[in-house]
Amino acid sequence: MKDAEVSELSARISETQAFAGLIVRERNPENLEFPFSALNSFITSSEQFFVRSHFAVPKLDLDGWRLSIEGRVEKQCEISYEELLSMPSRTVTMTLECAGNSRIFLSPKVGGLQWELGAVSNAEWTGVPLAAVLKRAGIRAGAMEVVLEGADNGVITKEPVSPGKIHYARSLPLAKALMPEVILAYRMNEEPLSPSHGFPLRAIVPGWYGMASVKWLTRIIVTDTSFRGYFQTSDYTFWEQRDELPVQLLPVSEVEVKAEIARPAWHEIIPADTIYRVYGAAWTGESEVSGVELSTDGGARWEQAQLLGESVPYAWRFWEYYWRTPGEPGTHILMARATDARGDVQPMQRDTHRGSYIISHVQPIEVEVRKVSSSGSTDSYTI
Ligand code: MTE
Repeated sequence: MKDAEVSELSARISETQAFAGLIVRERNPENLEFPFSALNSFITSSEQFFVRSHFAVPKLDLDGWRLSIEGRVEKQCEISYEELLSMPSRTVTMTLECAGNSRIFLSPKVGGLQWELGAVSNAEWTGVPLAAVLKRAGIRAGAMEVVLEGADNGVITKEPVSPGKIHYARSLPLAKALMPEVILAYRMNEEPLSPSHGFPLRAIVPGWYGMASVKWLTRIIVTDTSFRGYFQTSDYTFWEQRDELPVQLLPVSEVEVKAEIARPAWHEIIPADTIYRVYGAAWTGESEVSGVELSTDGGARWEQAQLLGESVPYAWRFWEYYWRTPGEPGTHILMARATDARGDVQPMQRDTHRGSYIISHVQPIEVEVRKVSSSGSTDSYTI
């Protein structure tokens, strides 16, 4: 092989390895899924953490990078990376779930990335409270929202098209922005953020779906009106229902209670007449998971699963259930259903007013129970 061929081949191999352990939903922009059936650690490593990006990763260097705070503030200002590092920091553990997670299970099918169970991951984030940065600039009377803008940008050509080139931007109501656990993070799992996860700075908004945690932050704009940008009017919206009428399109915000089964995986083959450990994770928004139930017969009967470890605010909670599998071969439907401390229970049915987002209804996992042969393996099947 010629030198040029060797280097082209190694470049291609290293590109593949860059995504090792993640399911590639889209190569460019990067949209990579955590393989949820591999769930084995409370903290997801930064390499396995799912990635959701609308545009290419912007190339940002620390020398030129500044965070600008503008709008309805006493004094517009810019903060450098070093200044942020010198401010008092806070670490929060937060499960980030994309509002489109589990979209593949919707029927009829809807457009958008076809995430299975893994557009969700959990990490430890360190940074400066957004409130501290806003305090530096001084919020003026009449302020209503805080817009967070990323450096990434582009034109969206698929319906709904964007008004030309736009940056990724989302807003938070002022009261949410001032909550002490809302931070501008520069570290993820004790390392500086990677380019895919928002280097050098991103927002972390506990309790809200992932779209609020804006990556590659460069601008914060305090507004006295409600921000109606593309990612909260044309995209990431749902229909609010009142008196059984869809009354208005609202931006997606708070996470809803949800449990997912990691194992068994979809169509996993399970030995008959054995004890099988069914396990997974459950999470919610501004509350905490109070219970998980499991059904092994398609939802007819439910039993309590065991919650594991301690409850950590805004982080997922692992759970397990030991299942005595049936003696006879057959197909079985497993379902997990979580409840939170507010009394919210995962619905069994999909609310279609949520469009292609907030997919929190109970997901059936179909498995096949097989008899184990004398060699110890389940009956052979066609591959
Ligand atoms: N921030 C910017 N600047 N650009 C983006 O495309 N995607 C959002 C959010 N922040 C996005 C962004 C969405 S939809 C999600 S779910 C999370 O980032 C995903 O964060 P992650 O890629 O670190 O998992």
